Amino acid sequence: MLFGDVSEELSRRVVEALRHVTDIEPAAALVRASSRSGVDYQCDLAMSLGKRLGKAPREIAAAIAARLDVADLAEPPEIAGPGFLNFTLRESWLEDRTTALDGDPRLGAATTPRPRRIAIDYSSPNVAKEMHVGNLRATIIGDAIARLLRFSGHEVVPHNHLGDWGTPFGMLIEHLLDERPSGPHAISDLNGFYQAARAKFDTDEDFATRSRERVVRLQSGDEATLTLWRRLVDESTRHFAQVYDLLGIDLSSDDVYGESFYNPFLAAVVDDLTAAGLAEISDGAVCVFPDGFRNREGEPLPLIVRKRDGGYGYAATDLATVRYWTEERGVTDLLYVVGAPQAQHFAMVFAVCRAAGWLREEHRAEHIGFGTVLGEDGRAMKTRSGESVRLSDLLTEAVSQAAAVIEGRGDLSPEVREEVARAIGIGAIKYADLSGDRERDYVFSWERMLSKNGNTSVYLQYANARIRSVLAKADQDLTGARVRLGHPAERALALALIRFPEAVGAAASGHHPHKLCAYLYETAVVFSRFYEQCPVLDAEGPGVRDSRLLLAGLTSKTLTLGLSLLGIPSPDRL
Ligand code: ARG
Repeated sequence: MLFGDVSEELSRRVVEALRHVTDIEPAAALVRASSRSGVDYQCDLAMSLGKRLGKAPREIAAAIAARLDVADLAEPPEIAGPGFLNFTLRESWLEDRTTALDGDPRLGAATTPRPRRIAIDYSSPNVAKEMHVGNLRATIIGDAIARLLRFSGHEVVPHNHLGDWGTPFGMLIEHLLDERPSGPHAISDLNGFYQAARAKFDTDEDFATRSRERVVRLQSGDEATLTLWRRLVDESTRHFAQVYDLLGIDLSSDDVYGESFYNPFLAAVVDDLTAAGLAEISDGAVCVFPDGFRNREGEPLPLIVRKRDGGYGYAATDLATVRYWTEERGVTDLLYVVGAPQAQHFAMVFAVCRAAGWLREEHRAEHIGFGTVLGEDGRAMKTRSGESVRLSDLLTEAVSQAAAVIEGRGDLSPEVREEVARAIGIGAIKYADLSGDRERDYVFSWERMLSKNGNTSVYLQYANARIRSVLAKADQDLTGARVRLGHPAERALALALIRFPEAVGAAASGHHPHKLCAYLYETAVVFSRFYEQCPVLDAEGPGVRDSRLLLAGLTSKTLTLGLSLLGIPSPDRL
């Protein structure tokens, strides 16, 4: 049985046929799933070749069709409109394929023949500040992309680039010394602590001087200062760990490569850049001016590597990061899940790393940007009093709102109820974030994300739980059962089910989880049409009940696996 991505398989066959027609090597991805009725896949290659070959596209399409060998899986292709090749899968092939899917835990998805070693930077909050909704997006999107890439067969190394170094630590440490909070969770309010330190720094000259001196001691490795610094880092990581735990994100302390980690490499970065003739002194600072970056006035833009006072900044650390992961850890790809405003920063860092030889031909580096979380008023999300929303509050709220959704379920034990509320609430937050194109801003709305209708995780979780309860009711051993497609709604469902590999492939390769969300939603909708039109438990006719149970079971498996790739649980009962 043929597994993998059907559109890819058809593309491969079209390319083979084309070799008999012309020498031109077309780009990949020629065949796409089609939503037209009666057409399963469509290819528009002939149209793009018309001009180059000086022939009518329909004529080219006919020439390809004449050489095309797809008889094992599809009917002979039709030539439609200006020169489309339309494919309809053969009923018996679709039946065999769907039946075979049931025994495959990957539901037909192959692993990549070209695995890469990928370092992915996500979450990356700043120490001594509470995580906020921007960090939430970086965490959720990064986690989903890491899962998708791992599932596709790549080696994925997550790293959490904590903002745990730099000038603010001078004032934070001095404030810690002034306040002397004691006990293990002494700084319960990280934001308040930061703001108080900041306020003192801005108004108290003596404090500001002490803070600056403290930075120097921190950077020169003074033991007593480092101990205080470590305490701040520990308090914050404890807070981050709580958030990750609540969210079901498996980022641990092993994955932390904070800014401080790269401190020992910074001097070598400057040395390398100087030796390569890339560094320039500008205004007393060590800078690199990568080609092609200019400010509004048209002047070359610097990437500041070492500041005038000898300190290193954010950019230097990111240069050292690339250098470390490619040189020391042998990764092939570097991904950064960071908000869109840092696009230029990363473009400049990558350009400098290419020039310095830390990123070579075989390496890929990509900034995976995302938009801002907006409140329902369309502005950056804030609390009523105008502060940024605390993540821990938001997540607690999600779980309690979800608890309200299942309020009437007296049949669930308190423990199950709590677990289900968590699955719904956290799922809603994640799915709302992942289901839109990440590059766009997204409007945070409890009502929308917890709606039982529409493209939400609750809708998918409900559909899944309902299917599982039908299967439990049937309580039937389906070994040896086969899928038969009699009704059009059955065929539509089978077609949706075999497209799982395409959806995962599209979501993983472009780092676009929303494509998987759209597919899962579409599949659940197609299932509900099937369920309305085709009785399952009361099905009549030989083998029909088995076949429908098999289709229902496969739908549930698809939803469960798909949601798990987004980091969302599928409870049995809702
Ligand atoms: N801590 C940074 C921030 O909150 C994000 C770090 C992203 N990663 C990086 N390698 N620069 O803006």
